[in-house]
Amino acid sequence: MIPSLPLSNGRAMPQLGLGVYLVSDVAVCEASVLTALEAGYRLLDTAVLYRNERAVGRGIRASGVPRDDVFVTTKLWPSQFRYEKAARAIDGCLERLGTGTIDLLLLHQPVGDIRGAWRALEDAVDAGKVRSIGVSNFTVADLDPLLADARIAPAVNQVELHPYWQQPDLLPYLARHDIVAEAWYPLAHGSKKLLAEPVIATAAAAHGKSAAQVVLRWHLQRGFVAIPKSTDPAHILANLELFDFELTDAEMAGIDALGTDRPMMRVPRWAMAAGMPLMPVHPLP
Ligand SMILES: NC(=O)c1ccc[n+]([C@@H]2O[C@H](COP(=O)([O-])OP(=O)(O)OC[C@H]3O[C@@H](n4cnc5c(N)ncnc54)[C@H](OP(=O)(O)O)[C@@H]3O)[C@@H](O)[C@H]2O)c1
Repeated sequence: MIPSLPLSNGRAMPQLGLGVYLVSDVAVCEASVLTALEAGYRLLDTAVLYRNERAVGRGIRASGVPRDDVFVTTKLWPSQFRYEKAARAIDGCLERLGTGTIDLLLLHQPVGDIRGAWRALEDAVDAGKVRSIGVSNFTVADLDPLLADARIAPAVNQVELHPYWQQPDLLPYLARHDIVAEAWYPLAHGSKKLLAEPVIATAAAAHGKSAAQVVLRWHLQRGFVAIPKSTDPAHILANLELFDFELTDAEMAGIDALGTDRPMMRVPRWAMAAGMPLMPVHPLP
C-alpha cells in the first residue's frame, strides 16, 4: 500500500507514482500505465507537453481500477497561460484524458501570464473540473507573487529533486507554506553515476535492494512525492518494492551528503516562454 501525503486543501496524494515524460509511443505509454496500475501504482504524471494524455486515459480505463482510486496529474504549458487559453486548455486535458475530474493540474513552467492561468485553474476548481492545483519548476521568487495573489494556494511544486540536487533554498520555503515537494528526475534521469555511488551501493547491498530502490526510498523518507519514469515492466514493478525496508539515519545522511550546488537540468526562461521542449544544459552523467 503506497502511503499518501496530505495536501493543504484537505485532499491527499500518493507518495509514489509513474511519470510518462518522453514516452511518446502511445502504445508503450498505455501499456506502462496499465502495468503500473495492475501492480498497485495509483498516481500518474503526464502533461500537455508529453502528448500522451489520451494514452494515459486509455490505460486507466483498461486497468479496471476504480477511477476514484487513481490520482491523475497533468500540466499546462506556458503557451496556454492566458486566462481564456488556459480555460480552453483545461477542457482539452479533460477531453484527452477522458477520466473525469483531474486530480492535480500544474502550471508547467514559471513564465508567461501566470496570474491569468492561475485564475483559470482556480475557476476550474470551483467548476469541479480539477480537484487540486499546483505549479512546477517554480523558485522562491516565482512563488512569492503567486502566493500573495492566489485565492487558492498551490498544493504542490513539482521540481527537479534527487540526491545530486536537493533544492536547498526551495525546500524550507515549501515546508513553511505547506506545499508538497514532488520530485521529477527522482532517479536523476536514470543516472548511472548516481546508481553506482558507493553510499547507495552499500545501502542496497545491506538491504538486499537495488540502487534505484534505495534512491526512491530516500525520497519517501525525505517526505517527497516521487514519480520515476519507466517503460520496462521489471523496473515498474521494482520501483514499487519500497515498503519492506527502511534506510537508517546514517544511510540517509550519507545520501544527503551527495548533494551538489546545481541542478542537472536548467531550462532557460526564454526557452520556457518560447514553448521549447526541455533540454539539458549540463551533460547528464
Ligand atoms: N515538471 C517537469 O518539468 C518535469 C521534467 C522532467 C520530468 N518530469 C516528470 O518526472 C518523471 C520522471 O522523470 P524522468 O523520467 O526524466 O527521470 P527518472 O524517473 O529520474 O529516470 C528515468 C530513467 O530511469 C530509468 N529507470 C527507471 N526505473 C529504473 C530502475 N528500477 N533501475 C534502473 N533504471 C531505472 C528509466 O529507464 P527504463 O524506462 O528503461 O526503466 C529512465 O531511463 C517524468 O516521466 C515526468 O512525469 C517532470
